Amino acid sequence: MSNNLCDIAVLGMAVMGKNLALNIADNDYKVAIYNRTTSKAIAAAEENPEQNLSLFVTLEELVANLKRPRKLLLMVKAGAAVDKLIESLLPLLDEGDIIMDGGNSHFQDTQRRFEELQQHGIQYLGVGVSGGEEGARRGPAIMPGGSKAAYDAVADIFEAISAKVNDNEACEAYMGSGGAGHYVKMVHNGIEYADMEIIAEIYSLLKANGYSNLEIADVFENWDKGDLSSYLSEITVDILREKDLENPEDDLLDDIESQVGADYRAVGADNESEFLLDHILDISEQKGTGKWTNQEGLELHVDLSILYSGLNARYMSAEKTLRVKASEILPAGVDAENALGKQNIDIEELGNAFLLARLIAYAQGFALYKSASKAYGWDLDYKSIAATFRGGCIIRSKLLVPIMEAYDKNPDLDNLLLADNFEAEISQGITALRKLVSTASLAGVAIPAFSSALAYYDSLRAARSQANMISAQRDYFGAHTYRRTDRDGVYHHEWNDETAE
Ligand code: 6PG
Repeated sequence: MSNNLCDIAVLGMAVMGKNLALNIADNDYKVAIYNRTTSKAIAAAEENPEQNLSLFVTLEELVANLKRPRKLLLMVKAGAAVDKLIESLLPLLDEGDIIMDGGNSHFQDTQRRFEELQQHGIQYLGVGVSGGEEGARRGPAIMPGGSKAAYDAVADIFEAISAKVNDNEACEAYMGSGGAGHYVKMVHNGIEYADMEIIAEIYSLLKANGYSNLEIADVFENWDKGDLSSYLSEITVDILREKDLENPEDDLLDDIESQVGADYRAVGADNESEFLLDHILDISEQKGTGKWTNQEGLELHVDLSILYSGLNARYMSAEKTLRVKASEILPAGVDAENALGKQNIDIEELGNAFLLARLIAYAQGFALYKSASKAYGWDLDYKSIAATFRGGCIIRSKLLVPIMEAYDKNPDLDNLLLADNFEAEISQGITALRKLVSTASLAGVAIPAFSSALAYYDSLRAARSQANMISAQRDYFGAHTYRRTDRDGVYHHEWNDETAE
């Protein structure tokens, strides 16, 4: 009888759930599948008759057909749906059974569920999964957190289905207790926003300086052969080369004209372009994980300025109508001698600045891990996080190898930029970054992520900052006190008699 039981259940047959179920089944596990709307689960099973999938219509049947301890992977929309499903499952489960949440849940929800389920003897894992649809199907990066015993019971499945690098190193690792796994995934997404914005700024700057889409694609393709190699650069090359097949040129103008209306959508677009990218509206959406990362930076007092630039750029992008109006009102203040042109850009230097900005984005993300590890008592292993990111996930890049090495040498590194592994990247990148920020600024092109990267770098290396002035101002208007450089203790000065009253 027990031979017919399934190894694991996947609940939720939207694309990520379905692809993970198929990936697990590919690896010779018997997978029970369930979806609240049964037709979706039927479709998943029917489309893949050769797979080891068993469809169950009710939760009772599903639970009754699982090996013990039962392992249930929830792949439903983050938020209330997860709580609802857990509530329905709870009466059907026994002590020691394992519930896993593979969605992008907020780590505090995961922490709460972990603690609540502990009271019921149920083991809980919040599982960060990165790699999009394709990753889920062929090998994602997996970041589980929660009950260590539960992790040990499912580690073989995660290892089997995850992305592999260097022949057979699995991109999955236990991250820590409670919400640690979802936290690691959340910060991954914060870094993802920053790296995407850096790439978008390079595209925008090159375009403004007269490069065509195909030329920009070649630039990224060449960089991708070296230290700048990354998944996001790779897809950028494809995106830049993609033709707009949906909109054949003849119909293009009519089509655009009928869409524009009063909402300014097509203002600034290259309406005659043959490339799809030029017809994509310049408003980027988001589902929230990048925002959560920045909220955590505020909460734990960590400077995430480059990650925040990635988020802010999305907010500003949404203000299309306002931007179009402002473009007609606000002067650029650009001198003719700083006019745009290909002569402004040295591609090699731009690549060096790109690598340094990417490194700073990672440095900020990992600084947040360090503060969170302390604040939440997780004992995060930074080397292992970097190792997990090397394959399958959206921010996979060659830079993760020296990041791993840096944490291998010093697991308690204060800041990634201080690791001697990056001396070359920093010395080549910093002058290039300065030139890039000043070129763009003199030409009136916004590159907020690069500008934040430079400001972070210079703030970090300021042995004496301007904060003495802030302290003096606080003491002046509010008697908030200050500390001195030459003596211990807390001081207040009567700055002048009028305000002292
Ligand atoms: C991943 C991605 C994924 C995320 C999308 C969209 O690692 O596979 O991070 O989890 O949902 O990238 O995120 P936004 O909608 O916030 O851009």
